[in-house]
Amino acid sequence: MLTTFRIRRFNPESESPQPYFEDYQLVTERSDTVLDALIRIRETVDESLTVRCSCRGAICGSCGMRINGHATLACKTKVASLISSGDAIQVEPMNNMPVIKDLVTDMTGFWEKVRQVQPWLQPAGPEPEGEYLASPDAMNHLTGVMGCIMCGACVSDCAALEVNADFVGPAALAKAYRFVADPRDGSSSSRLTALNTPGGMWDCTRCMECIEVCPKEVGAMDRIMTLRAKGIEQGVPSTCGSRHTEAFADIIERKGRLDEPMLAVRTFGLTNFRQMFSFLPMVIRAVVRGKLPKSGPLFRAIPGVDRIRRLFRRAKE
Ligand code: FES
Repeated sequence: MLTTFRIRRFNPESESPQPYFEDYQLVTERSDTVLDALIRIRETVDESLTVRCSCRGAICGSCGMRINGHATLACKTKVASLISSGDAIQVEPMNNMPVIKDLVTDMTGFWEKVRQVQPWLQPAGPEPEGEYLASPDAMNHLTGVMGCIMCGACVSDCAALEVNADFVGPAALAKAYRFVADPRDGSSSSRLTALNTPGGMWDCTRCMECIEVCPKEVGAMDRIMTLRAKGIEQGVPSTCGSRHTEAFADIIERKGRLDEPMLAVRTFGLTNFRQMFSFLPMVIRAVVRGKLPKSGPLFRAIPGVDRIRRLFRRAKE
């Protein structure tokens, strides 16, 4: 079938190095992946098109790109699954990283952030004579996260990274979890302390995009939530992130609704006026746009809050 590919092009060496879209039409087969189509475009239509790939079997992670607005592996995405609407298939380089040329991005920053979490085993105690042994049961829960192929799809579509370049990002945090949860590792406490700083595990906004786009179902956001829970369990020093989480749950349990002013006070502390007042413009915008509860006295417990408290009791049990 005749398929249109709308590809975002960028050549830093051209006279006007601005990104632009270019349409290509290609006859595709049912079995074609987007990567097959891109390679055919390069071989038969436009040899200047730049694409990165290697294994063509969803193993090496090098063909990460955005297809119809979401990051994925081009070698794992069938053209036939995308053209039901008859619209052009839009192909772009990954987001949240600089573009080198066309669909190829510079992943230096990605690797630096992965290295930042020290992705290697740091065993407690002296080195054993032979291998570091762990029972299969103790390692089973790590198989999902160990399936990460470092393609960068989660980083590309991370909403938190888009506004906060200092955030270490979902791939690095999933890798951190892989070692924090490894029974052979002896550094989980120092790893959690390092992640308990600005840019670390509390900067995730739980948009769930990393879960949606991961081609290997690593579930980065779930790993980040487990890191947070472990941090609180292990008593890593209290930060805005951990205080926010605990205050949020506590307020909902007591009132059945969120009490934003109380949440801000408990998150930042009464002494941190500067940070608290930095949110004032946002609060004013929220009030102007009617985002605060309209009915009843503000922030009292809702009727029937006992049922919510019962849920909390059961969850704690
Ligand atoms: S080419 Fe290796 S994952 Fe797509």
